[in-house]
Amino acid sequence: MSFVLGIESSCDESSASVVEFDQHLFKVHSVSTFSQIDLHIPYGGVVPEVASRNHLETVNQMIDGAMKVWGGKYSDLDAIAVTNRPGLVGALLVGVSATKALSYCLKKPVVPVHHLEGHACSIFLDQSDTLNTIKLPLLLVVVSGGHTSMYIIKTLPEFWEKDFLKHSLIGQSRDDAAGEAFDKTAKLMGFPYPGGVWIDREAKGGNPHAFTLPRALPQKSILDFSFSGLKTAASFVIQDLKKKGTFESSKKDLAASVQEAIIDALFSKIKIAIHQYDCKGIAIVGGVAANSALRARLESLKNIKIYQPLKEYCTDNAAMIAAAGALRFSQGQFLTHHEALKLNAQASA
Ligand code: KG4
Ligand code: ZN
Repeated sequence: MSFVLGIESSCDESSASVVEFDQHLFKVHSVSTFSQIDLHIPYGGVVPEVASRNHLETVNQMIDGAMKVWGGKYSDLDAIAVTNRPGLVGALLVGVSATKALSYCLKKPVVPVHHLEGHACSIFLDQSDTLNTIKLPLLLVVVSGGHTSMYIIKTLPEFWEKDFLKHSLIGQSRDDAAGEAFDKTAKLMGFPYPGGVWIDREAKGGNPHAFTLPRALPQKSILDFSFSGLKTAASFVIQDLKKKGTFESSKKDLAASVQEAIIDALFSKIKIAIHQYDCKGIAIVGGVAANSALRARLESLKNIKIYQPLKEYCTDNAAMIAAAGALRFSQGQFLTHHEALKLNAQASA
């Protein structure tokens, strides 16, 4: 059994969490997260410098909060896991520096975590039946604000090696990520950042077939995605509706149509991948996995075991980072507090 403190600061969420790992379950004892969304709303997107400065102000409070809710002592921790790649480098550096200071003072080992490996582990958080019974091959779909990618996982989590995602990639977005497509079209429609959740809400009761929007790369031989054309098509529809004076009354239908176009594009490639790789399980993780229409569509897949994170663990959080760190720690992969002094942040990985 191990207790791991996770720290996440790769984008616009400053988060700390204590997770207990006992080979069967990742039990989340605490998650303390500060979302910077309100700070970035005036700019319509994340401003890296604003993000870094705010992480600096909040990271210690998040760590303090997570430790207090857990109720254990710093000396009871077995390791500290931190997102060190990929992400906004200034933002990552804040979490990495806080981790280095803590680890050196406490003489605790450090596990550097790839942000997407954290998302992959989000399906295990507080879900007791997933870890050892996961059905393979597993199609892992990451749909977030920065990434849209599919991976074929052929080994159980205990054998997931460093950079295992890099070696199992089968398709990814050639331009915008799915979350970015939600956010950019939502912005054109006048919704605040991040727009995914607004489109999700507005789409309820709207007609998903009211507007014809493109689904790029329809070829069966291609498992990549492309979402940039959707934003352009949506902007023409919006201009047209505004000219006619029917934009406000069409908002629900347009939101539903945008959502349908994104989900359709995702699912057409998901179905091809499941068939091609004879997948027995599918996991969808990342912020967009919180989308209610996507979750409903997932349930329609037959003869495949579906793994979804609990809704609160879809968007960025430190519990998933602690879980990925605990897994690595159990494999003996960590840095000593001396080695951790050389740890750096990587914008891309
Ligand atoms: O995983 P995440 O928190 O951050 C990244 O690692 O990028 O994902 C954030 C993305 C944003 O683009 C946001 O609009 C999207 O997830 N998102 C949603 C929903 N909730 C969050 N997209 C569609 N429907 C939602 N309910
Ligand atoms: Zn993320």
